[in-house]
Amino acid sequence: MFNTPFLLSFSLLLSFPLLFLFVPRILPPRHVPISLPDELDDLALFRRATLASFGDGATLSRLGTTNRKPKIAFLFLTNTDLHFAPLWQQFFQNNEEFYNIYIHADPYSKITPPGGVFSGRFIAAKKTQRANPTLISAARRLLATALLDDPLNSYFAVVSQHCIPLHSFKYVYESLLLKPISDTRSSSLPMYRSFIEILDDEPQLWDRYNARGKNVMLPEIPFSRFRIGSQFFVLTRQHALVVIRDRRLWRKFRLPCLNLNSCYPEEHYFPTLLSMEDPDGCTHYTLTRVNWTGSVNGHPHTYRPLEISPQLIHKLRQSNSSYSFMFARKFSPDCLQPLLDMADNVIFRD
Ligand SMILES: *[C@@H]1O[C@H](CO)[C@@H](O)[C@H](O)[C@H]1NC(C)=O
Ligand SMILES: *[C@@H]1O[C@H](CO)[C@@H](O)[C@H](O)[C@H]1NC(C)=O
Repeated sequence: MFNTPFLLSFSLLLSFPLLFLFVPRILPPRHVPISLPDELDDLALFRRATLASFGDGATLSRLGTTNRKPKIAFLFLTNTDLHFAPLWQQFFQNNEEFYNIYIHADPYSKITPPGGVFSGRFIAAKKTQRANPTLISAARRLLATALLDDPLNSYFAVVSQHCIPLHSFKYVYESLLLKPISDTRSSSLPMYRSFIEILDDEPQLWDRYNARGKNVMLPEIPFSRFRIGSQFFVLTRQHALVVIRDRRLWRKFRLPCLNLNSCYPEEHYFPTLLSMEDPDGCTHYTLTRVNWTGSVNGHPHTYRPLEISPQLIHKLRQSNSSYSFMFARKFSPDCLQPLLDMADNVIFRD
């Protein structure tokens, strides 16, 4: 005869596999960062931007033969006030024909519109959060809106509310658009390339790859093609289009993470996609300096007012590539005044 404890443990044992079979169907998924209506909204926007840009891959080269000047689209991705708006305001001053500004501000946070060059520059935005793919969506929304808005937008620079410029607008514009690629490794490289960090040898890469579960990224993204880099980049128009057209990699990157400690999808999606699609069209480094020494909780070193000096600006500009760093992060909001104090004599003098 079976005794009761035996029966009990036997039925428990039996129920385990059943649990695995049925629980995912009974309970809704724990974490759905991007709803179907949001996803469809985005798809419609990306489709419109793709159609409108059809055949404009040659915009930059055509521009050479007309007197219409290419522009840089500055894409501000924020969930707070734009603390450094007055500094950026000075950066943009008197260059109206050469740039456009677009701001994606989390609609769930209270933001004081900064006015000046920023007025009317807010785009249709959706909620953004750390540790899930909403930051990728926000950046893609910015790219698509800027692609649609002005065919002269030729470079697309993503910055955050914690970023500051390290050079004058003129310096940035001329470096990007008038004397491009002085560090050409071979004459077969395209004239204009994207400035995006693309790394493949970081120690945390394996955990990041498996953040959504083991082998989930296959077959689209084998580990050998998975990359890491900063989410703050400067893309060519052609690459902005590559990003908003992508459906294949997005299907994987939009999946929620199981391991939230290794969940930074926006640091992987863009470098992985572009290194698969057009590695030679990317410089593989970023123009935005960030100090990871002593980082806390995935946040880099945040500069405080007492650290701000002309020497710091000069040090932050120094890079190992032939391009100087043009932007830097992160700075605490109260750095604004010390930065403004040396804007004319240090930051914008180059
Ligand atoms: C980077 O941050 C560390 C503190 O975490 C600081 O000691 C160092 O001076 C910073 N480096 C630069 C170039 O600012
Ligand atoms: C430049 O390269 C050196 C040597 O690899 C490295 O120690 C340094 O941090 C690099 N500087 C920057 C700004 O990346």
